[in-house]
Amino acid sequence: MSPRPAAGRGRFDLAGRTALVTGAAGGLGRAFAVALAQAGADLVLTDLPGAAGLGETAELVRGLGRTAHTAEQDLADTAALHAFADRVRAAAGPLHILVNNAGTAALERFNEITPESWHRVMRVNLDAVFFLTQRVAEHMIADGVPGRIVSVTSKNALVAEAGLAHYNASKAAVDLLTQTLAIELAPHRITVNSLAPGMVETPIDGEFPFDRAAFEAAYRARIPLGRYATPEECTGALLLLASDEGAYLTGSRIVVDGGVLADQMPRTAFMPPYRSSLRPPTKDGTTP
Ligand SMILES: NC(=O)c1ccc[n+]([C@@H]2O[C@H](COP(=O)([O-])OP(=O)(O)OC[C@H]3O[C@@H](n4cnc5c(N)ncnc54)[C@H](O)[C@@H]3O)[C@@H](O)[C@H]2O)c1
Repeated sequence: MSPRPAAGRGRFDLAGRTALVTGAAGGLGRAFAVALAQAGADLVLTDLPGAAGLGETAELVRGLGRTAHTAEQDLADTAALHAFADRVRAAAGPLHILVNNAGTAALERFNEITPESWHRVMRVNLDAVFFLTQRVAEHMIADGVPGRIVSVTSKNALVAEAGLAHYNASKAAVDLLTQTLAIELAPHRITVNSLAPGMVETPIDGEFPFDRAAFEAAYRARIPLGRYATPEECTGALLLLASDEGAYLTGSRIVVDGGVLADQMPRTAFMPPYRSSLRPPTKDGTTP
C-alpha cells in the first residue's frame, strides 16, 4: 500500500487541475469555486450573460493565486452548449472537473405551471446538465483526463415539496442521469456523482412570493441541526467527489442536509427534554 499524504489540504490537492463551475456568480457556485481554488485548482467560471457577481467570484479565485477564466453563457440555450464547451477548452485547456451547479426554481402550484415555466426549469436544471456533460466528457476522454463530474441536485431529488413539480422532477432526473453516465464513463476513469444539498443560505428562494421569514422559521424547526447550511458547508463533499480521494466513488450521491431527510416525522418537539442516565462529569473531566 502506498503511503497516503497527510490529512488536510494534501489529501484533496487539486494542483494542476482545471474546473468548470456553472452558476458561479454567487451562492453555492461561488463557494464551490473558492473551495476548488483553495485546493489548488484553476477555474473556469460561467453564469448568465451580465450576471452580477461573476467577476467578483473570479477576483476571489485570483486572490488565492489561481487562474480564473470567465465565460458567460445562458445554459437554457441547449443548442449552444457544445460550442460553449469547445470555447472553454480552447481558452483554458483540458478540463479535469465539471461542477454542474447552475439551477433555477419557481414556486408554482401544479395547475399554474405553464409550458414555458416547465421547459425553462427543465432546460437549465436537466437539459444543460446532460448536454454540457456530454461534450465535456468527450473532451475528457479525448484528453485522457481521469475526470470528475459533480452535479448539484437537491434533497428534492429524493422527496417532494409542494409547489415545485418541475424543480423536483428535474433534480430527480439528474440523479438517474448521474448513474447512467457513471456506468458509461467508468471505462474512461471518469467519475460522475451528485451532491444533494438541503436548505442552504443562498438567494435561490428570493423570487418566491411568500413570507420568507415565517417559512424559514418553520423550515428550520424541521431540520434536526436546527439551521440552514452555509454554502461553505457543502464544499467538503464537493472536494471529496472532485479529488483523487473520490476515485472509487461513482454513480453516488452525497446528501448535505442537516439530517432533514432522516426525520420522517419531527416528533422531537413533542417529547420530554433530553435526559441522560449518565451522571455529570467529575471535576477532572471523567464520566462516572
Ligand atoms: N439554496 C438551496 O437551499 C439549495 C438547496 C438544494 C439545491 N440547491 C441547488 O444548488 C444550486 C445552486 O443554487 P444556489 O442556491 O446557489 O442559488 P443561486 O440562485 O444563488 O445560484 C444559481 C446560479 O445559477 C445561475 N443560473 C440560473 N439560470 C441560468 C441559466 N439559464 N444559465 C446560466 N446560469 C444560470 C444563476 O444566475 C445563479 O448564479 C442549484 O442547482 C440549486 O437547485 C440549492
